[in-house]
Amino acid sequence: MSTPQDPFPAEDFDDWAESYDQTVPTTTGFPFAGYTAALETVVARAEARPGMRLLDLGTGTGNLALRFAALGCEIWGTDFSLPMLQKAREKLPAARFFLHDLRDNLPPELAGPFDRIVSGYVFHHFVLDEKVRIVTSLVPRLSSPGGRIVIADISFPNQSALDKVKSAAGDEWEDEYYWLADEAVPAIQEAGLRVDYSPVSACAGVFTLQV
Ligand SMILES: C[S@@+](CC[C@H](N)C(=O)[O-])C[C@H]1O[C@@H](n2cnc3c(N)ncnc32)[C@H](O)[C@@H]1O
Repeated sequence: MSTPQDPFPAEDFDDWAESYDQTVPTTTGFPFAGYTAALETVVARAEARPGMRLLDLGTGTGNLALRFAALGCEIWGTDFSLPMLQKAREKLPAARFFLHDLRDNLPPELAGPFDRIVSGYVFHHFVLDEKVRIVTSLVPRLSSPGGRIVIADISFPNQSALDKVKSAAGDEWEDEYYWLADEAVPAIQEAGLRVDYSPVSACAGVFTLQV
């Protein structure tokens, strides 16, 4: 019996680490249109203050974490690609980074509590149920009261907004588990969290979650 193939293995990201910062932030079309604005929106929604402890999930080359380090936050981060983490470590030598697959339980070193848990462009690798399971599992790692989870990702208000971008993208389109806010918001609310969705571009938006 063969093991089913992981649709998004870490190796797929390893080779990307070298060129990521030269290509992604300057992309004007799908899927990264609005990337910089999305990261800036995470910073705005997080309302982080100096000294806050912040965890960045799927930190990649550290572009989101770097913004919070500049605000004086204490940075913790994860990623399942070692080359990505190496890039992040070069930018943020004082941060604590862990090799970790977000689909697994967080390791004990990441018990927190964290004032903010953030993530950029990672959750679209997971189906909605998995997204909700992961964000719910993060709640015990949040400081209480006042902890906040802020997630930027490829997302659309609804299926028809996705279809519009898909038809304009042509060959650039790739099917992944992009967020549809009109499905995700009620699913997250049903799991007991408050959530707000802010669209940032035609294919990006930011979810802010609180207990
Ligand atoms: C598009 S990049 C985003 C990087 C960074 N957060 C940013 O905003 O630029 C996606 C990142 O998520 C990581 N990733 C994807 N699936 C993951 C998983 N299951 N567990 C941990 N990291 C994952 C990849 O290795 C990659 O670094």
